[in-house]
Amino acid sequence: MTTTNIDQALFEAAEAIRAKAYAPYSRFHVGAAILADDGKIYAGCNIENAAYPQGNCAEASAIAAMIAGGARRITRIYVTGPGSAPVTPCGGCRQRIREFAGLDVEIISHGVEGQPLVQTLEQLLPHSFGPEYLPK
Ligand code: THU
Repeated sequence: MTTTNIDQALFEAAEAIRAKAYAPYSRFHVGAAILADDGKIYAGCNIENAAYPQGNCAEASAIAAMIAGGARRITRIYVTGPGSAPVTPCGGCRQRIREFAGLDVEIISHGVEGQPLVQTLEQLLPHSFGPEYLPK
């Protein structure tokens, strides 16, 4: 599959799950789709909570689906949200992605009324801390 075809599949998976987002407080519905190293796509949406800090981002939900599905590495991740500005992962989710992705992995951020923005994890999270810093 070409990158264009992969991104189309990831976009469709992110959009399909974005429609299921539970975001009654912000009304900002987000979808995320991961292509994992097992070749499968794992998707997640944001899940808010009346106790606001307990909400989950779409990226965290997609990572949970990937781990539950038995995969361990992210090879590409696509995030969709409303509006025309690219919906980039929040700081906490950049770190969550860092746990399971190489610094060269591309993250596609897409406000669906605008154009997608492709950036590497290293661009989004420079000088980052990761699992290899900890003793085995
Ligand atoms: N949100 C995500 O799920 N992912 C992002 O990349 C940006 C923000 C969610 C969190 C919250 O439910 C809503 O969007 C508004 O911040």
